[in-house]
Amino acid sequence: MLEREPYRLGFGTYSLTGDEGTRVVAAAIEAGYRHVDTARLYGNEAAVGAAIERADVDREDLFVATKVAHFEEPDPTAEYVREAVERSRERLGVETIDLLYHHWPRHRDEIDVVLPVLDDLHAEGVVEHVGVSNYTVADVDRAREILDAPILANQVECHPLLPQDDLVAAMRERGVTVVAYSPVAQGEVFDVPELVEIGEKHDATPAQVSLAWLLDRDGVAAIPRTSSPTHARENLAAREIDLDPGDVERIESIDRRVRLEDPDWMTW
Ligand SMILES: NC(=O)c1ccc[n+]([C@@H]2O[C@H](COP(=O)([O-])OP(=O)(O)OC[C@H]3O[C@@H](n4cnc5c(N)ncnc54)[C@H](OP(=O)(O)O)[C@@H]3O)[C@@H](O)[C@H]2O)c1
Repeated sequence: MLEREPYRLGFGTYSLTGDEGTRVVAAAIEAGYRHVDTARLYGNEAAVGAAIERADVDREDLFVATKVAHFEEPDPTAEYVREAVERSRERLGVETIDLLYHHWPRHRDEIDVVLPVLDDLHAEGVVEHVGVSNYTVADVDRAREILDAPILANQVECHPLLPQDDLVAAMRERGVTVVAYSPVAQGEVFDVPELVEIGEKHDATPAQVSLAWLLDRDGVAAIPRTSSPTHARENLAAREIDLDPGDVERIESIDRRVRLEDPDWMTW
């Protein structure tokens, strides 16, 4: 479902906190975003919840995704996970979390602890969909053995400087949507000549070209983050850009590689 409108282009909220965060997220919803991505770790679930409350859009028309277990608890127990999700739900002010991700397994064994709780929460109806994040293909296969619930999405870093071709193909085979985080590479795409030139052709920015390319790929959604209402609207407008096969080929021939989120304990 994340590959369909109006969810394909979601709104990332990392660092959008407090009243300002609420204002920015509410404005994004007013502008047309219907999928909002947050996490316990971002410390802004209450701000996002206030934006959901404030926006003039029915709750059932919004898709709210959050994440549990990452860094703040090196060895999460089942009790910790359940309690953390309950607090997330309270802060967001929602009955049901549309998508709950396991944020980032610090140890591979964390998968065995966290996912059964997510499965239970799914069976109980607290969570509509289960997702994973920063999972390798092997992790996803392990998750599929543990979970009864289908995996809706694997949220990973993905942009023209980290296209993740093998992972995208493997997720497509498994029916798991890739949700591309840092889809404009936190601004790095602005210095890529190929993206600048393709943008000039379409009267678009390199950020818009990057988003148009991601959304053009089968099985991929994207969640750019911006504090600027103008950028938020520009990012939504990227859905209207029609890249031609030559543009796509050129983007796929970029060989510069940037991985922005790469903790030293992670093996990809
Ligand atoms: N699961 C994970 O482990 C994980 C990790 C990282 C991120 N995420 C999620 O993915 C979301 C997005 O990733 P991100 O925040 O790392 O990076 P990003 O969306 O690639 O980049 C955000 C930066 O790009 C700028 N930007 C966005 N749109 C722009 C535009 N149209 N024109 C010019 N500048 C633009 C923003 O600046 P302005 O505010 O000035 O527009 C901001 O500094 C996060 O907010 C979070 O929800 C998840």
